[in-house]
Amino acid sequence: MTTTITTIASLRDTLKPHRGTQRIALVPTMGNLHDGHLSLVKLAKQHADIVVVSIFVNPTQFGVGEDLDSYPRTLDADTQKLASVGVDYIFAPSVDDMYPVLPPPTQVLAGEISSQLCGQTRPTHFDGVGLVVSKLFNIVQPNVAVFGQKDYQQLAIIRQLVRDLSYDIEIIAAPIVRADDGLALSSRNQYLSADERKIAPVLHQYVSQLADKLTQAEHINEASATDLSILQSLIDDSITQINDAGFKVDYLEVRRQDLQNISNTKQDTALVIVTAAWLGKARLLDNQQVIVKIPMS
Ligand code: PAF
Repeated sequence: MTTTITTIASLRDTLKPHRGTQRIALVPTMGNLHDGHLSLVKLAKQHADIVVVSIFVNPTQFGVGEDLDSYPRTLDADTQKLASVGVDYIFAPSVDDMYPVLPPPTQVLAGEISSQLCGQTRPTHFDGVGLVVSKLFNIVQPNVAVFGQKDYQQLAIIRQLVRDLSYDIEIIAAPIVRADDGLALSSRNQYLSADERKIAPVLHQYVSQLADKLTQAEHINEASATDLSILQSLIDDSITQINDAGFKVDYLEVRRQDLQNISNTKQDTALVIVTAAWLGKARLLDNQQVIVKIPMS
């Protein structure tokens, strides 16, 4: 049975008897659930006895002029979907309960990484994510928490948060779930018009093509230790192709898988392509990990 709980106090009371004897998993969401979210729940069930899904449209992670007010709130439909995959508890608190004072004077800052990539256009976003995830961790005190890999930077920041604030929580990354045509599932895909929806999979296609070029091109492999300009020209070509398809690329970068910049003095092999691009009103994210085989001489 799936039970919906709407206050911090009653969630704490409800979880008390489970603690110690059963493993608790948390899947944090902002609702408007799709198959990507349900895949997080399925993964959570493999790692725990009790699954809590939080549904909270967190005001502190939205910037001025962003879609906080229009973000789709679909609790009834979400509840049905979560019941169908056997979630134990839905935690759907009010803004007042989560933030007695808004904006809260206490902050959780992730440092340099939060001003890069998505942080360039959403400078306060990850501070809000860090704060709400810390609160959810304190409220639920889960053994494991599952996050989607589509939000690659968010996942990296949460891993950093767990490390730096000593949370005793295992973080599990769930692979991106895609539509049949390759578009990564996202609640914001519904902002796409019918025509834009047809173009949208192109983002994934060009990211995959870039990944192929990185793994295949011998000259990059040989040059990567000393010359990152070849890499940059491949990235620039991909940006041009994506823009030509009708997107406005926010960023497209190749980083180390921990999101540190590729160093031109070390032979970095485990890389990730990360991108965000506007298509009409929708800002789409995608990423792909790639292992570049650099010949060791
Ligand atoms: O990924 C999301 O939906 C949100 O950023 C999260 C992790 C639930 C925090 O509000």
